[in-house]
Parts: sequence; structure tokens; C-alpha cells
Amino acid sequence: GGLSRFNNMAMVDFTRAEHRAAFPAAISSVRAQLGKTYPLFINGREVTTSDTIPTVNPAKPSEVLGLICQAGIPEVEKAIAAAKSAFPAWRDTPPEVRAGYLLKAAEIARKRAFELSAWQVLEIGKQWDQAYADVAEAIDFLEYYAREMIRLGKPQRVGHAPGELNHYFYEPKGLAAIIAPWNFPLAISMGMASAAIVTGNPVVFKPSAITGIIGHHLVEIFREAGLPDGVFNFVPGRGSVMGDFLVDHPDISLIAFTGSMEVGLRIVERAAKVHPGQPNVKKIISEMGGKNAVIIDDDADLDEAVPHVLYSAFGFQGQKCSACSRLIVLDAVYDRFMERLLAMAKATSVGPSEDPAHYMGAVSDDKAMKSILEYINIGKQEGQVLYMSPTPQGEGFWVPMTIIGGIRPEHRLAQEEVFGPVLAVMRAKDFDQAIEWANSTRFALTGGIFSRSPEHLAQARRELRVGNLYINRNNTGALVQRQPFGGARMSGVGTKAGGPDYLLHFMDPRVVTENT
Ligand code: SER
Repeated sequence: GGLSRFNNMAMVDFTRAEHRAAFPAAISSVRAQLGKTYPLFINGREVTTSDTIPTVNPAKPSEVLGLICQAGIPEVEKAIAAAKSAFPAWRDTPPEVRAGYLLKAAEIARKRAFELSAWQVLEIGKQWDQAYADVAEAIDFLEYYAREMIRLGKPQRVGHAPGELNHYFYEPKGLAAIIAPWNFPLAISMGMASAAIVTGNPVVFKPSAITGIIGHHLVEIFREAGLPDGVFNFVPGRGSVMGDFLVDHPDISLIAFTGSMEVGLRIVERAAKVHPGQPNVKKIISEMGGKNAVIIDDDADLDEAVPHVLYSAFGFQGQKCSACSRLIVLDAVYDRFMERLLAMAKATSVGPSEDPAHYMGAVSDDKAMKSILEYINIGKQEGQVLYMSPTPQGEGFWVPMTIIGGIRPEHRLAQEEVFGPVLAVMRAKDFDQAIEWANSTRFALTGGIFSRSPEHLAQARRELRVGNLYINRNNTGALVQRQPFGGARMSGVGTKAGGPDYLLHFMDPRVVTENT
């Protein structure tokens, strides 16, 4: 029998006692495994280095979770060589066989879902539901891209001229460098890596330094799935030591990156240079930042808008490229809406994510904390603080939930991605101004609107030029297949993760024409 139709994995359900109990149990079982050293993985073998970096619990940085071996240039060279020798056989492995490895990987990850989630609670401070959603999304990518490759793997006949047979089909580009962020440490890593793998491109994977253990979960999953040696190589390392080397390397033909605009544009620029011996023009898939606006129209359903805005802005501490970071409220509804939003904000608390009582946890690391606090100071000068939550005393990377009013399009808080729990509020005189302001940044990732007016919704569909527009709902948590995710302008190169065109970016089409 064929494969079942794709379905998203179900969300965690805390009305079920076994799901409620699973988190504390998984967190303690993870705690019993702390302190290990995580090796690199090159050509099917573990490689240890003397240079390691610890990863820590951001809510309690004195808690070291593990030590991550760091690749230098010699290790990256070995990983690229391994990928290169694996390439011909992997390219020629039938698409459905390649897809089979992804399905197996999905199965393995599903069995470990709570444990993988618990690692995210500890290593990056995700709330329970957010952690589980990340793991579920990783599994969705595996299931979806497996099916997509089977669909795209069949050569298509094109044209209908008599005496001629044309076949259109796809081949992998070559070696893929996957450079992943820490904010969706399993989902985005797995999405980019599995897309490269299933399309036939061997992978050299660099996880973020602060989520190295979750990065290593890809090794565990792909190893258990039996992926051939050299198809997936794990090389965590310092960007300053090996980042440019990996991007510049002539044998890399494809780079899939998710992260900041600055790093994304640097990759685009460096990858344009052709080095001696380079076989291909490098293809770049670069998903970058956002400065996403949500518009509150004067007839919005406030019962709906208030919790969705709060969640979009502050879920996982606002550390999502999709997060709402600008709230544009129409003057006519401003006082009523803001009173309710602030009341709900005040009713939440900030504290360690392992305690589900807290709405918001610690931010990713010391560097992020400093940068966000700096933006809060900028916001204080540009506008007025409407709310700043208390934060826990003592150790941890704590930043208050912060809402700043009086922001106008020319302000830095309206233009620059903060990547943290800071919501800039703008008061628009009418709907046209709200749309104009929403479009007034370099970015075009997500956007949202709460309105009951059919004309305004139609105008928003036409004129809010973002990759993912959400109407009367939160604007984070895009689901694989249902909301293919990604932006344009300075938010990205127009790719849609979890969508029907995504795998095409990893392949070159070929045509064979036969005179019959
Ligand atoms: N896909 C995530 C979201 O939609 C962001 O990367 O929130």
C-alpha cells in the first residue's frame, strides 16, 4: 500500500493526564543525563576534539547541560570530503529510498517526542507547549518532504509533439552546508537538513553553538535511521573559526541558512565569489528576520485579538522571526484595546520555562539579553514604557516583558529586529495609515490583522505584502503544508519551508529529449 496522506502531528494536549505527567518525567530523565561530551559526526564516525563549548540552561546558566566538541578547519575539510565521496551513490539512490530514511527518522523522533521536548525546555528555555511544537514540526518536515520527494521523483513527460519523447526530472545540486539557528533548534535544523538529504545532497550541518545538544539529536536520529555514511555530517564550530571556510569552500554547492539578516546577507555576498575548482554556482536559501506588524482595526473582536497578540509577541520570549514586534492600533479603538492588552500582560509571569505557570522564560544567552535590554533603553527614549514586567532575581538571562507606546515608523524600534520580548505599539489615525505603516520596513515575513470589515480584510490581503499574512489569529506557529513559511524583501529569498516549491530549490531540473 502507498503512503498515507500527510497530516500534521497532533499538538500536545494537557487535558490528558499522561501528557501533563510526561513533561516533569522527561525533564528529570534528561537531567540525569547532563554533563556528557557530544562529539562531531563525520563519515559515519564520532570525532572528538579537545576544544569544547558548554551549553547551559538559560534560566540557570550555572547548570551546564553538556560539552559540545568544536570543529576547526581540518574537521570541516574531513566532513566535506566525506560528503563528496558519498555524493554519487546518494544522488543515484532512488527518491523513494531516500524518502524512506526520512520516514524512519520521523518514526524515531516520534517515539522520543517528550524527551526531545524536555531538552528544549532546558537548553533554550521553551515553554512545554512550544518545545513540543518544535519537535512536532521537525517530524512534520520529515513526513512532508518524504512525500514531496516521492511526488517530484517521478520523471514527467512534457510536450505532445509526435515523434518526440521529452522527460523532465530533477537532480541534486551537490554538497549542502546547513547553517541553523537556535530558536527552532530541532524543527528548522531538521527541515533544512532533511530537504537537502531527501533531494540527494549530502549535508554538512552546523548547529547553533547555544543549542548543540539539540543539534546532536539530528545525529542520533539519522544514525538510528541508518543513513549511509557521509550523507549527514555534524560539525558544530565557532562561526569565527569555520563559518566563512564552510561557506567559501568550492565543493559546497548549496547553502541553506536561517538566522539574522546580517549573517544571511554576508553568506549571499561571500557565496557569489567563485573559487578555483568550484563546480557550481552556489545556490543560497536564506531565511532572515522580520519586523512583523499586527493591525487592530476599530471593529476587531477584542476577546480574540488580546490573547493572540500577547502570544504572538511574547510566546518563547518573542524569539521567533515570525513574532509580532509592532502592534498598530487604530485610534478609535486604542484606549479600549490597550487597557485590555495591558491587563492581560500584567496577569502573566516571567520565570523558568520548566514551570508551566510562567508565560515567558529566559532569553537565549547573555549576548541576546544585553542586546534586548539595549533596545528597551532605545524604546524608552523613542516612546513611553506602557509595561515592563518584573523578572526573577538572581542568575539567568532575564529580560522583562516590555510594551512600549508612542512608536512611529521612523523610530529604530519600528525598523530593527529586536528578537526578544519587546512590543512596539503604534497608534494609527485610520486604516490606510495602518497599512502604510505596516509596510514601512525592509522586511516582509509575517503580518496580522484583526478586523470584521470585509473591505478592510480585502485591502489587507492585497496590500499587506508579507510572506505569511494571518487574519484574526496569532501570527506565529506556521504549520508544515498548511502555512508554508517564509518571506521576501530582506526577510528571505522567497522560499517557503514546508511548502510545495521548497524541495525544488535543492535540485536542478534536467530534460532528456528522444527522437522516436
Ligand atoms: N515557522 C515559525 C513560525 O511560524 C518561525 O520560524 O512561528
